[in-house]
Amino acid sequence: MAEREDPPRPYVFVTRELPGDAVERLRSAAEVEVWPGQEPPPREELLRRAARADALLTLLTDRVDAALLDAAPRLRIVSNMAVGYDNIDVAAATARGVLVTNTPGVLTETTADLAFALLLASARRVVEGDRLARSGGWPTWHPSFLLGHDVYGATLGIIGLGAIGSAVARRARGFAMRLLYCGKRRQEELGAELGARFVPLDTLLQESDFVTLHVPLTAETRHLIGRRELGLMKPDAILINTSRGGVVDQRALCEALRSRCIAGAGLDVAEVEPVPAGDPLLELYNLTLTPHVGSASIATRRRMADMASDAILAVLRGQKPANLVNPEAAV
Ligand code: DGY
Repeated sequence: MAEREDPPRPYVFVTRELPGDAVERLRSAAEVEVWPGQEPPPREELLRRAARADALLTLLTDRVDAALLDAAPRLRIVSNMAVGYDNIDVAAATARGVLVTNTPGVLTETTADLAFALLLASARRVVEGDRLARSGGWPTWHPSFLLGHDVYGATLGIIGLGAIGSAVARRARGFAMRLLYCGKRRQEELGAELGARFVPLDTLLQESDFVTLHVPLTAETRHLIGRRELGLMKPDAILINTSRGGVVDQRALCEALRSRCIAGAGLDVAEVEPVPAGDPLLELYNLTLTPHVGSASIATRRRMADMASDAILAVLRGQKPANLVNPEAAV
């Protein structure tokens, strides 16, 4: 009697090496290929792997568009190891019955820590001070050297009172900050719990000493902060962005920082990442810039990797994964 062949194992393509044992766990259920090194796979390599993939584990640097989905006839899930998923054409995935998941929650506090770190560093010119101190620019103590802005008791405007925005608000309460927020809708209970007042965007911009952005990048939020909005801010205000670079019109921000229309900015994200050499942003002394490391703690990156692989394992078992961003694709 002829022996029955085992059905082929599902194939999972992981677009970068991951921390922890997330890949090992995937290997218990599938053939897994991991793109080596730190750089994203070139487009043609991604297309080639997608052609035979049942699941893709992607990062925010991997573009998953209609063309890629069309090249992936077996694909059941794109599991994005990020809370943001503006790198994925979700409508195109839904139309093809491909599930999309993200990794919310596990990175909330870590990202809020970085937003607050940028706020403090920008207000008190920490990075500038470090640079001066190391390069012979530390003069004798004098009353007007490297003056910054007080954080304690200042007004913080939070654009987007979601999980990360709320976590920033909780930190701000420890600094006795007055809290304003705006967003798609007023959140009575949460606002009351945090002591944050709902105001229109323009009021928030006009009244805040610090403005921090916590919205996803969508067609609606692209360039939410542009020349007009920066013009409404106080001349000694500081803008913090740990969401996505595209939420701010970077050219307008450069101009506002150069002309001192606002006092400073703390950015963890940019319209083009990495910021290319020669970009005017890099010339601005009143900008604190970190290289998109909002969620970059050891524990959080492990949790993100686990969450992203768990979603794939669930789908391979025929279950509905957690954190589906397009539940309508599951029916
Ligand atoms: C996200 O998760 O969207 C961050 O930008 C990276 O952790």
